[in-house]
Amino acid sequence: MDYVRLCSGCHGLDGQGAPKAGVPELDCRFLNILRHKDGKRYVLNVAGVRNSHLSRTRVLDIYRYVTESFCKAGITATDIKFSVEDERLLDDPDIDIVGLRRNITQYLSEKGLESPSYPW
Ligand code: HEC
Repeated sequence: MDYVRLCSGCHGLDGQGAPKAGVPELDCRFLNILRHKDGKRYVLNVAGVRNSHLSRTRVLDIYRYVTESFCKAGITATDIKFSVEDERLLDDPDIDIVGLRRNITQYLSEKGLESPSYPW
């Protein structure tokens, strides 16, 4: 399973992250990120995904697994799906990933929603 092999070492087998070490949780707070209009674009271009050099299909499968597994309450995977069309968001050459993360954090705080822990 790609998530277990490539992501869980840092983000945890249950998506619990390692907040003290600056590794974000991939739980319900992660799903909150996906409520932002550019949330998918953001998560599909983070360093962990880019550096994995996985095929597009396998990246989308990882996120299907994450959205279905780690948030047991509130919004669920039935609200948020990764479809084949989302492939076009991968490998965005123009993305300002840190700036976008700041916008997402601000958007969530205005809505009263929690963001995952983030190192900067
Ligand atoms: C070497 C440790 C490491 C690995 C392996 C790793 N990540 Fe990360 N990940 C981080 C750290 C640290 C951050 C926060 C800084 C950043 O965005 O690079 C992060 C950020 C993220 C974020 C953004 C979360 C947020 O709240 O902004 C997502 C989504 C993510 N990773 C997904 C993945 C996926 C999917 C994989 C596997 C393909 C993966 N990561 C592999 C360490 C890792």
